[in-house]
Amino acid sequence: MSPSLTVRRIVADQGAVLRELRTASLRDAPYAFGDSLEDALSADAAVFDAAAARHADSHTATSFILYTEGHPAGLIGANFESAPARRAFVFALWVAPAVRHLRGGELLVNAAIDWLASEGAQQIYAWVTDSNTTAMRFYERLGFVATGDHARSTQTPEQWETLLMRELAGAAPLASAQ
Ligand SMILES: CC(C)(COP(=O)(O)OP(=O)(O)OC[C@H]1O[C@@H](n2cnc3c(N)ncnc32)[C@H](O)[C@@H]1OP(=O)(O)O)[C@@H](O)C(=O)NCCC(=O)NCCS
Repeated sequence: MSPSLTVRRIVADQGAVLRELRTASLRDAPYAFGDSLEDALSADAAVFDAAAARHADSHTATSFILYTEGHPAGLIGANFESAPARRAFVFALWVAPAVRHLRGGELLVNAAIDWLASEGAQQIYAWVTDSNTTAMRFYERLGFVATGDHARSTQTPEQWETLLMRELAGAAPLASAQ
């Protein structure tokens, strides 16, 4: 029988859970993220405590956690950039290998999109490493398309990343925006 999967927004006292999921994701899939495992491991626990507390009630940045039978098993971040365009991003998406292909990733992305939309987003952006074909296919299946923006990874400059975007239903098409 498939395990049941649920997603909930992070709460203020989940700094240790955030740290555990973030280090697990960097250990499992270092090719997928801009941060390094070493930085995450050497960061003070207080950094994760502060992030969890901020993400629990911020209107500009948050995290959602995937649970399987009550145990944390995945993570996604969502935020609005501070630049004037205030584009909405999902990032740091990770699902534990034991529960992949069960729509946990889709649940996380949908929760993040719903939150970003409730805060006013009309388009959702995600940077994906070009060599990460699984993530590329995953996002495309969820309606994301390439924007044409392409950049070197800050952490691994020999790798390139593609910016994907999904237009939310009901949002005005870009071409007709004033
Ligand atoms: C990308 C990632 C988050 C997807 O997580 P997931 O929980 O497996 O995602 P989903 O189950 O929603 O969908 C993933 C795939 O499983 C397939 N799938 C879903 N249910 C399935 C099932 N019952 N049986 C077989 N395949 C299934 C989907 O069709 C999809 O395949 P496709 O992309 O070829 O169309 C996960 O692979 C991961 O954490 N990768 C490492 C980190 C990473 O790359 N993060 C992204 C950074 S940009």
